[in-house]
Amino acid sequence: MKRVLVTGSLGQIGSELVVRLQELYGHKNVIASDVRRARHGLPDNSIFEVLDVTDGNGFYEIAKKYNVDSIIHLAALLSSVGEQNPQKAWHINMGGLYNALEVSRQLGCALFTPSSIAAFGPSTPKDNTPQDTLQRPDTIYGVTKVSGELLCDYYHKKYGVDTRGVRFPGLISYKTLPGGGTTDYAVEIYYEALKAKEYTCYIEENTKMDMMYMPDAIDAIIDLMEADASKLVHRNAFNITAMSFSPKEIAEEIKKLIPDFRIKYDIDPTRQEIAESWPNCIDATAAKEEWGFKAKYDLTSMTEDMLDKLSRKLQVEYNPPAA
Ligand code: SER
Repeated sequence: MKRVLVTGSLGQIGSELVVRLQELYGHKNVIASDVRRARHGLPDNSIFEVLDVTDGNGFYEIAKKYNVDSIIHLAALLSSVGEQNPQKAWHINMGGLYNALEVSRQLGCALFTPSSIAAFGPSTPKDNTPQDTLQRPDTIYGVTKVSGELLCDYYHKKYGVDTRGVRFPGLISYKTLPGGGTTDYAVEIYYEALKAKEYTCYIEENTKMDMMYMPDAIDAIIDLMEADASKLVHRNAFNITAMSFSPKEIAEEIKKLIPDFRIKYDIDPTRQEIAESWPNCIDATAAKEEWGFKAKYDLTSMTEDMLDKLSRKLQVEYNPPAA
């Protein structure tokens, strides 16, 4: 990557990725874009363009204006908001990806698109979910993710577009909140633990899902984009994960640092059903073998870092017991 266009730059991943790309490739070589105009959260000297990814011409014009060689396409609706408006989810997720692929084909750009653990469904093996397995998701978000994986494979085969992608698990971070996913509880719980010492969780206490701390997710995007193409067998949709836990397990970890923290449950049937349709833990062997994927954070080290950083951001008192 030499000059990169990022869509969805103001979102949970984009707001951190843009800063990291600026450090690595230089401010002039990172074009941040988002459908929202308020560029809140990005450094002042960032290059920023308003871009609605469903506008194919606008997408093309911005990519051409800056002569980008790579596109990191993050703009999408997540699983929970997707269920509230399936038509909009299809329009944004598939329309946006189609435009990203067409722009990449026409301008010769490499393209990164995230898929998700949501690309799996109730009939997928739940434990150690293989890289190549049954994918019959029953959420609109999952349907767009499987379709996206296939479309990216197709553009590579048919047109030689350098498409790459990972299946992200739930992503946990303190800078920008996620935008309406099923795994959002694992972010909210840290905010509420610090602010109220109590969190009411909408996912049942023993439901496990794969998760990852944002620094590992950012590394994964950059490492995959910089990987030797000749070693990539799968290209799009690599399983990656850093940890798998249930609400009860993350609450236990938080209690080690905030002993009077309490978790309560008020299950949301829609999000619980989505969570149950996803794997408990996926197998990331292909990503490890083909491009050296390795996560640095586990549940314990992530919890220590999250509570430390988030307490500063929220300016709340936080005095973990001495180890
Ligand atoms: N974190 C996402 C969601 O919950 C999964 O890709 O929708």
